[in-house]
Amino acid sequence: MARVLLLNGPNLNLLGSREPGVYGADTLESIEKRAAELAREAGHELVAFQSNSEAELIGRIHGAAADGIRFLIFNPGAFTHTSIALRDALLGVRLPFLELHLSNTKAREAFRHHSYFSDIAVGVIAGLGAFGYELAVRAAVRQLETK
Ligand code: DQA
Repeated sequence: MARVLLLNGPNLNLLGSREPGVYGADTLESIEKRAAELAREAGHELVAFQSNSEAELIGRIHGAAADGIRFLIFNPGAFTHTSIALRDALLGVRLPFLELHLSNTKAREAFRHHSYFSDIAVGVIAGLGAFGYELAVRAAVRQLETK
């Protein structure tokens, strides 16, 4: 049994009501619940954390190993395109992670095309809406079981 951290960045707490044409109708709570269920069915534990604060996200990443986390699934929200500090935090703790986006950021505004995370992630899932979170859990489980 391994522990996975599902980390969501700014504004993702608004899922369900936030631009549903872009991000879908599912709430973050329902997405987190489903992700935790899938992990449990596979014999693992998933804990979820969302914050609108870069500092809190960094703190959670720093504490991940001490919390027994072996793998991260991370939707950094708009910090994807801005945060060298979060990138450095992930490099600093050396925990493997998947980068995840509900929308296909490459098909949107030019400022969303660059990510500070893709080149250091195990993989990237984007554009599949809430289903991407289910795929990410499956991918995380596979990573944990093949390591
Ligand atoms: C997002 C894409 C980002 O560009 C945006 O700022 C978000 C959500 C996504 O899941 O599609 O907040 O990460």
